[in-house]
Amino acid sequence: MSTGPEEISHAISRLKAGRLVAFPTETVYGLGADALNQDAVAAVFAAKGRPPLNPLIVHVSGPEMARSAVREWTTQAAALAAAFWPGPLSIILHKSPRIPPNVTAGGDTVAVRCPDHPLTLALIEAFGAPLVGPSANPSGRISPTTAAHVRESFDDDLVYVLDGGPCRGGIESTVVDLTGPTPRVLRPGLVTPDQIRSVLGREVESSEPSGGSPTRGTEPLRSPGMLQQHYAPVSPTRLVEPGQLLAQPPGAVLLTFQAIDRPRVITMPAEPLAYAARLYSALRQADALHPPLIAVEAPPVPAAGPDRELWLAILDRLRRATA
Ligand code: TXA
Ligand code: MG
Repeated sequence: MSTGPEEISHAISRLKAGRLVAFPTETVYGLGADALNQDAVAAVFAAKGRPPLNPLIVHVSGPEMARSAVREWTTQAAALAAAFWPGPLSIILHKSPRIPPNVTAGGDTVAVRCPDHPLTLALIEAFGAPLVGPSANPSGRISPTTAAHVRESFDDDLVYVLDGGPCRGGIESTVVDLTGPTPRVLRPGLVTPDQIRSVLGREVESSEPSGGSPTRGTEPLRSPGMLQQHYAPVSPTRLVEPGQLLAQPPGAVLLTFQAIDRPRVITMPAEPLAYAARLYSALRQADALHPPLIAVEAPPVPAAGPDRELWLAILDRLRRATA
């Protein structure tokens, strides 16, 4: 990868023409377009095959640009941005009238996020306006964590890809809604509810499965609405308990923590940040074999401790992939 000023200026001329540019972030690659250009935004929905009712995240170069996208940059938002930006946290606030209605799916709120990647920060800064950036995958499919993943899905003509190397984080940003009476995490990610709680100094709701013992994550989702969006491989994909791994059909690909001596085994890291960074490329690698089944060993979710919420965020993605 050698992406520099030339590629950035090419990207900017494409964006100014209302065209699409995929950009790297610390989470996954985004499918970028001028957030203030309604037709460019419509082209993003069309390229992804995304339902028009699903709003887009507006990517900014910092709090100052975020202010221009929202009605009121609240003290809570400022505190979260100071603590976590640039980084994997999208903050939902009431929208500014500057933001075209198709960005927010007609709604009154907008998600803003400042991504932590030097290339993309330079791109947004130089473009001088916010970019929409859904994950750069066809709707319902696995998010891309490399430039090659993006190129597999979109024609060069349609989407110019800025290659910023593999994404470090690997799963999409935490989405927190600050427009209600209590801050609420709508999508878990690598910024955890506990971290948000400690910055805001108040209760934060999340859709984390409550109570119970459950360490291996077979409990049902509390909010079935979250399953509406699948991030799924094409091949049938199932979450399995460690004891069932060897009972999977021949030809199945296993994503496991164990060193199992059989073909089609992808060994996954035992540490949650490393697991998240590897997850989507492992699912793509498995899917490329067109197996009868992808069997993902359910990760051990500790009952407490900082890793618990990271594993829950990963489990959220695994449940979507296997729903
Ligand atoms: O890490 C990420 O957030 C990546 C990178 C590229 O920044 N982007 C991403 O975008 O994951 P997307 O479009 O794939 O997911 C955005 C999520 C969707 O679940 C969408 O429904 C939710 O954020 N969202 C966006 N705006 C919202 C709003 N105003 N209210 C509620 N949910 C919103
Ligand atoms: Mg997505």
